[in-house]
Amino acid sequence: MGFPGTGKIWMNGKLVEWKDATIHIGSHVVHYGSGVFEGARCYATRRGSACFRIDEHLQRLMNSAKIYRMEYPMDLGGWRQAVLETIRANQMKACYIRPIVYRGYETLGVNPLGNPVDAAIMVWEWGAYLGQEAIEQGVDMKVSSWARMAPNTLPALAKSTANYANSQLIKMEALADGYSEGIALDVSGNISEGSGQNIFVVRDNTILTPPISASILGGITRDSVITLARELGFTVVESDLPREILYIADEVFCVGTAAEVTPIRSIDKIKVGAGRLGPITEALQRAISDIVNGVVPDTHGWLTYVYPEEQQARATAAAHAASR
Ligand SMILES: Cc1ncc(COP(=O)(O)O)c(C=O)c1O
Repeated sequence: MGFPGTGKIWMNGKLVEWKDATIHIGSHVVHYGSGVFEGARCYATRRGSACFRIDEHLQRLMNSAKIYRMEYPMDLGGWRQAVLETIRANQMKACYIRPIVYRGYETLGVNPLGNPVDAAIMVWEWGAYLGQEAIEQGVDMKVSSWARMAPNTLPALAKSTANYANSQLIKMEALADGYSEGIALDVSGNISEGSGQNIFVVRDNTILTPPISASILGGITRDSVITLARELGFTVVESDLPREILYIADEVFCVGTAAEVTPIRSIDKIKVGAGRLGPITEALQRAISDIVNGVVPDTHGWLTYVYPEEQQARATAAAHAASR
């Protein structure tokens, strides 16, 4: 997905032109992977543009920075305002939101502490990550020959740029072998996650997903899916899952801000269930999409509306819903 190349980017509190949002080649992050970032989405709901679970994303950003001793002088409210300001400055209706905190330019060496901690926020249009067809038909995946990071090596709960070196190996291998994505195991051989998605398995009407101890990123979509699945009456179990459960599952799907809820129709060329979008995956796709499209009331408080002037549209939509 190419960049538009125009618009405003937030850098350390200032909105700068897209072409001017540059950093020096000597910046620490370029050499040592010393950055933490987020990927969130703003949706054009029928009640106006709204960011999905933006506070949870920004809290995870601050947590990632804390793990790496990378304090940026801005609290959650400041981050939220900066994100909203960036979307408004670009007059986006729907967009992908990419805040990043990174070690900047001053001195090079493994010790990062002599460098400034800088931050930026980019927004741009980004459709379905694995394609719209994937959401409807499902994707073909392979179990990667690359494992996820071992515990106590690179912290999986920190969304660090460094972790995505591993993700890139998983993704490139999958593409080279003719698959859309790879599913990585953890170092014990249990299911971990995709290069940028959490994994869910459905068996006998029970929904299973690896725990956070399986070297996964604690995904916000994962948390939303668990919440909605339980509200729909399903049992959701977080437990270690052996590789082979993928082959005998009724349904397998992956979730993430970029991929949303994408069914997996085959793994290692073995058909998953009926080999197409399954009923539980579909129900969860619908539950999430009804929220992010503003079709149902936001009972969880997951939406943060961007434009105050769309308040009237919200009031009208709410009145319509109430009169039905
Ligand atoms: C490695 C990895 N796992 C899982 C996810 C899903 O997380 P989320 O739902 O918060 O986007 C992502 C996406 O950010 C990711 O990069």
